[in-house]
Amino acid sequence: MNTYLKYNRLALVTGASSGIGKDFAYELAKNGFSLYLVARDVQKLKWIKTEFETNFGIQVTVFPKDLTKEEDVDDLLKVIDLNDFGLMVLAAGFGSGGKFDSLDIENEASMVDLNCKSVVKISHHFLKKNIKGERKGLILFGSLVGFQGVPWTATYAATKAFIQSFAEGLYWEYKKSGVDVISVAPGPVQSGFGDRAGMFMGNAQSPEGIAKIVLKKLGKTVTVRPGFLSKFLGYSLLSLPRNLRTFLMKQIMGKMVFGNK
Ligand SMILES: NC(=O)c1ccc[n+]([C@@H]2O[C@H](COP(=O)([O-])OP(=O)(O)OC[C@H]3O[C@@H](n4cnc5c(N)ncnc54)[C@H](OP(=O)(O)O)[C@@H]3O)[C@@H](O)[C@H]2O)c1
Repeated sequence: MNTYLKYNRLALVTGASSGIGKDFAYELAKNGFSLYLVARDVQKLKWIKTEFETNFGIQVTVFPKDLTKEEDVDDLLKVIDLNDFGLMVLAAGFGSGGKFDSLDIENEASMVDLNCKSVVKISHHFLKKNIKGERKGLILFGSLVGFQGVPWTATYAATKAFIQSFAEGLYWEYKKSGVDVISVAPGPVQSGFGDRAGMFMGNAQSPEGIAKIVLKKLGKTVTVRPGFLSKFLGYSLLSLPRNLRTFLMKQIMGKMVFGNK
């Protein structure tokens, strides 16, 4: 039996319209979880709803929201109040690539709002409600880039360092209170991420199957590096001094952002 079936089978997934979030929605629907799906693109969410309800006989609620907006995050908090979610998967996020002063500052600031601020608000609401309840799971998204500074994607890497640190803190705070917290730290994944960030993703792994790996690890470890590529890249980098990691990431990210220019 999948160990995550111990959680109440109602999950909220942000970033569910694409990539890794969509893979989570699929894995959970396949295993009988009813879902609240959050992203901005209502049409994509409706297609997913029709597919999952038809194929898996579960109930899907589409909740189109822009989580860079305070009022939309507040609407989501009300949904958390009204439902007994067993799992919270906070996958919504985006990045950007380029020299920092050439990037659109509004986009950089709203990245911090989505990748960090919305995650803090939603996690706080969920944990406050669930602290003495039955077993729950909170899945957060760091990244390979979150373990050191990364030139040419400095803001994005910093948002992921924030989530990594946040998840590690919460993991130990809530370990004995019934809430399993995990940080997912993928390497490059072929999804909508690269196009939006302006990054060439090269030998990226497919998002399919990431959810299954993460859900098996939930409650057992604080950080999961899903798949061979993220493990290989992650552990090779971690063995190096932090300054050297940043230097190497500058070369790698430079190729991803600027190509051979
Ligand atoms: N792909 C990678 O290489 C990689 C590596 C490490 C970590 N990650 C992290 O993994 C998570 C999932 O990324 P992904 O690769 O699956 O990217 P993706 O395919 O671009 O998916 C991102 C999801 O976030 C949603 N989203 C974006 N802006 C939003 C907003 N303002 N409000 C609500 N939803 C929003 C998108 O839907 P809409 O556009 O419809 O809103 C989409 O469903 C992110 O946190 C990312 O930082 C990705």
